[in-house]
Amino acid sequence: MKKRSASTRPSTVKWPTVNPEKVNVMKKIEAIIRPERLERVKEALTAAGFVGLNVVNVTGRGTQRGVTYEGRAGERFVVDMLPKVKLELVVKDADAKRVVDIIVQAARTGNVGDGKIFVSPVEDVTRVRTGEHGEQAL
Ligand SMILES: Nc1ncnc2c1ncn2[C@@H]1O[C@H](COP(=O)(O)OP(=O)(O)OP(=O)(O)O)[C@@H](O)[C@H]1O
Ligand SMILES: [Mg+2]
Repeated sequence: MKKRSASTRPSTVKWPTVNPEKVNVMKKIEAIIRPERLERVKEALTAAGFVGLNVVNVTGRGTQRGVTYEGRAGERFVVDMLPKVKLELVVKDADAKRVVDIIVQAARTGNVGDGKIFVSPVEDVTRVRTGEHGEQAL
C-alpha cells in the first residue's frame, strides 16, 4: 500500500473538546499598558466597580522591536525592551468584554506602543479568609 505523506495523513493530535460546564469560566485579563496611563486605567476600572487587581512593572517589546534614537552626530541608540506596566485582574466571564473596553478606552493614545491585552480562562479562585470558591470569591 502506498504510504501517505505527512500532510495527507489523518491527524492523531487530540484537540480539546469544549466542556459545556466550562463555557462560563472566569477570565484573567492581562493588560500591558503605558506606565503613564496606569492611573487613568485604574480610575476607570474603579468607577465601573472593578477593584481587585495586580500591577506589575515589566519590560517588553512589541512588533517595532523597541525604539531607535538618533544622537547629534548621527549615532543610533537602540532600546529594545521598554518599560511597561502589566495590569492583571480576574473577572466574571460576563464582565470580561466590558473590562477590556474600559482598559482600551483609558489606555489608548493612538500611537504605537499603546499596549496589548490578553484574555485567558481561569479554573477557580478561592478567598482565603472564608474559603469561598468561584465567582463569588472574586
Ligand atoms: N505577543 C506578545 N506577547 C506578550 N507580550 C507582548 C506581545 N506583544 C506585545 N507585548 C507586550 O506589550 C507591550 C506593548 O506592545 P505594543 O503596544 O508595542 O504592541 P504592538 O503589537 O507592537 O502594537 P503597536 O503596533 O500598536 O505598537 C510590549 O512592550 C510587550 O511588553
Ligand atoms: Mg509596538
